[in-house]
Amino acid sequence: MNRCIVYFSKDGNTEYVAKLLASEIEGELIKLAEKSPRDGVIGFIKSGFQAVTKASSKLIGEPWNKIEDFDFIYVMTPIWAGNGTPAINAFLDKVDLKNKSIGIITLQSDASHKGIEKTHEYLMNRVKSKGGIATECFALTGSSPGKFAGEERLKNEFKRVIMSGSA
Ligand SMILES: Cc1cc2nc3c(=O)[nH]c(=O)nc-3n(C[C@H](O)[C@H](O)[C@H](O)COP(=O)(O)O)c2cc1C
Repeated sequence: MNRCIVYFSKDGNTEYVAKLLASEIEGELIKLAEKSPRDGVIGFIKSGFQAVTKASSKLIGEPWNKIEDFDFIYVMTPIWAGNGTPAINAFLDKVDLKNKSIGIITLQSDASHKGIEKTHEYLMNRVKSKGGIATECFALTGSSPGKFAGEERLKNEFKRVIMSGSA
């Protein structure tokens, strides 16, 4: 099975876990990069607003055209204001997921993952509307906003949640 990992990461936590997963499953990494920066307090507020309104951002290149050869795709995003990110929304707007299986992986600061089922359900429905089947969802604890949780913590979280198979 050909597998890839499509991810967005602002502060490096999701990216770090995406790389751990890539080496574990020998999957290809597809990084989503945005055209506009999200610096400072204004960037933080803008990001929360866009996430809560389920807006899409402008991405560099056409990453949705890179997934054709893969039959299993992990979609990874941080949680912003209780939602996925504008970059993931933009990817899901354009991608064709017909006959593809999808795993959804989210990272967030709230270790209780309150309300994550609803967010996962929203992302699963977006996948379904693009012809894909979301087969599994994982909720990981990352860092507080703007921070990096550290390699050891993220490695442990990766092992605990993804490698043990519990969502
Ligand atoms: C704009 C913004 C909003 C956030 N909102 C939430 C939230 O609603 N709930 C939560 O648990 N964490 C929230 N976070 C924290 C991130 O989900 C967390 O720091 C994650 O590990 C970031 O991943 P990254 O390093 O890959 O960007 C938010 C972070 C940012 C920047």
